[in-house]
Amino acid sequence: MTTTPLSTASALLRPVTAGALQAPNRIWMAPLTRNRANPDGTPNALQAEYYGQRAGAGVIIAEGSQPSAVGQGYPNTPGLHTDEQQEGWRRIAEAVHAGGGRIVVQLMHAGRISHSSTIGGQVPVAPSAVRAAGEAVTVTGLQPFSEPRELRTDELAGVVAEYADAARRAVAAGLDGVELHAANGYLLHQFLADGVNARTDGYGGSAANRARFVVEVAAAVSAAIGADRVGIRISPLNPFNDIAEDDVSVYEVLTAQLAELGLAYLHLLAAPGDPIIEKLRAVWPSTLVLNTGFGVESDRDQLDRLVADGVADAVTVGRPFIANPDLVLRWTRGAELNEPDPATFYAGGAKGYTDYPALS
Ligand SMILES: Cc1cc2nc3c(=O)[nH]c(=O)nc-3n(C[C@H](O)[C@H](O)[C@H](O)COP(=O)(O)O)c2cc1C
Repeated sequence: MTTTPLSTASALLRPVTAGALQAPNRIWMAPLTRNRANPDGTPNALQAEYYGQRAGAGVIIAEGSQPSAVGQGYPNTPGLHTDEQQEGWRRIAEAVHAGGGRIVVQLMHAGRISHSSTIGGQVPVAPSAVRAAGEAVTVTGLQPFSEPRELRTDELAGVVAEYADAARRAVAAGLDGVELHAANGYLLHQFLADGVNARTDGYGGSAANRARFVVEVAAAVSAAIGADRVGIRISPLNPFNDIAEDDVSVYEVLTAQLAELGLAYLHLLAAPGDPIIEKLRAVWPSTLVLNTGFGVESDRDQLDRLVADGVADAVTVGRPFIANPDLVLRWTRGAELNEPDPATFYAGGAKGYTDYPALS
């Protein structure tokens, strides 16, 4: 598909600040799990090459990465809880910075969206001992999700500390910050969702209680590395990964409390026109980053209008960045795009990962 060039006055091409992040454009790379890390979660040279190729993004939000061994959801996802993993991230940060880019890493604890065989025989942990419907990706193929065990109240501070430690490692590795993954059915979203969180302690029940754990994680991570290096991703009412939630008010409670922390940005996954966007935009004091969701692929001109209209300050783009390392340049020029190959999204080596051509 060939389109017209973006106007030099395009909203997408204007610089934007998000806390400590100063992005030269508003076309950010969405977090994308690609399952190319070493089996022990150490990021490798291939990943450094992949992210380095994409340094033209306003900000790269690197793939969901586990803050602890038990937090891993899929094979070959990177972690941030060992020295070797931290060293691997250092190479990625260097590659992106060498290309003039900025990169934060998404901290993703999968909670119940996991399988014991992926986490060395451990039992996944979750707000409640409720098995998710569906199947986990494991090294031996799809298997029903494992039944998780409920985190005890006296264990929660330890999980919060794991997030803070991972964030410290991220910054020590030279990354520009972290994004907390509170979307798409993983651990933080499991706490927020009234249909998944059945706790009877101070972390379940009311919207304020369900938001509590997420706020504690955000506060601890902010204290560890500075709130201006911390973003958070939410996906209100997204049923992905067997999330059941009726009570959207939890997001108003959550964002009101997060607003007080002074985070760098709120990353909202919602379809254009969803009233939640306007609702949260009205109360969120800093940068709002929008991703238009899992339906049809992000579309350049729609995103340009959304930013021009002030619906969001920046947007994240997923699949087009998989196939186009120089997406910002291609969109700017209206150049033809490479098509992403879904067969190589979640597995493989260089094929479908670092071999998509850039414009010469
Ligand atoms: C291969 C693949 C991996 C993904 N991994 C993550 C992830 O690790 N964390 C996350 O929050 N979202 C993840 N997503 C969702 C994307 O960030 C994004 O919301 C989605 O792809 C829609 O945007 P797009 O239309 O621009 O692709 C993933 C999506 C794809 C296609």
